[in-house]
Amino acid sequence: MIVVFYYTQSGQALDVAKRICQPLAEAGTEVVWRPIIPQQTYPFPWNKYEFFDSFPETRLGMPPSGIQPLDFSGIEKAELVMIVGQSWFLSPSLPLQSFFENEQVKAYLEGKKVVFVNACRNMWLMTGRAVKAYLHEIKACQVGHIVLQDTAPNLISALTIVRWLLYGKKQSSWLLPAAGVRKADIEDASRFGDIIKIAIEKNDFQHLQPQLLAAGAIDYKPSILLLEKTGHRMFGHWAHFIRKRGGFRDPCRRTRVNLFFYYLLVVLFVVSPFAQLFFYLTYPLHCVGKHKREDCYIESNN
Ligand SMILES: Cc1cc2nc3c(=O)[nH]c(=O)nc-3n(C[C@H](O)[C@H](O)[C@H](O)COP(=O)(O)O)c2cc1C
Repeated sequence: MIVVFYYTQSGQALDVAKRICQPLAEAGTEVVWRPIIPQQTYPFPWNKYEFFDSFPETRLGMPPSGIQPLDFSGIEKAELVMIVGQSWFLSPSLPLQSFFENEQVKAYLEGKKVVFVNACRNMWLMTGRAVKAYLHEIKACQVGHIVLQDTAPNLISALTIVRWLLYGKKQSSWLLPAAGVRKADIEDASRFGDIIKIAIEKNDFQHLQPQLLAAGAIDYKPSILLLEKTGHRMFGHWAHFIRKRGGFRDPCRRTRVNLFFYYLLVVLFVVSPFAQLFFYLTYPLHCVGKHKREDCYIESNN
């Protein structure tokens, strides 16, 4: 049996999970689906202010609510747990954070073998690290990490995702491609299910991540490394700065949230192309190989 806990707004993360699980289901493995439903709901498409107002708590790991009770009956003996979600502001999405902080979830996941699947734009490094840390603390055994991302260039995907998340327009137009993970990449995700199926059959999870990586489970883009690391640090300062004026949805912090929006615009469209150029000019200094090993491979928790 494999249990899939998932959160999705548009359905993208669920589509990915369904494709991954398809070979397992076809081979007769029972797949149990458990949606993660946060008590604090988030709109989709987003209203621009609420989108940016969700930033400080996301970055600081302070979800404003828990999740609705999950049904754990009949799933105690699961051979594998899959947790499926997305990055928000270089961190696990708020519903994922609420999930990991839930006491029943912690008790359930202890000792379980877990694969984390992230369906995001292209900035997943810090999310992967945060999820790894959550699972380590819970004493779950992470055996896999799969990232499906938008393959369009960084600035293009920034434009298309804004159009999608804020205005609900996912499809391509004459200027821009469709937003999100490409359909073909979602379809092809079933190959990861084939690999997971064999791992379950052989009860060998030690080699799962190297095999998933060999099948392209993570497309590691070194140039994003510097952007994400720097962005994550700067986001931390901004999040504290905004929260000094008030907590989640407090109107007193409106000016600071709006300032953050303008900061993000400048960073994305003005600073990031130069930062990428700088990265390549100073490539040897960034220990890319070491980071790649840390972010793509998994050390056993056992
Ligand atoms: C508030 C918010 C912040 C986001 N920040 C990031 C991010 O930092 N990195 C990234 O790769 N994608 C980011 N995304 C895109 C999501 O990871 C995801 O791809 C998209 O929201 C669709 O997911 P869904 O399955 O919930 O519909 C963000 C989305 C939202 C709503």
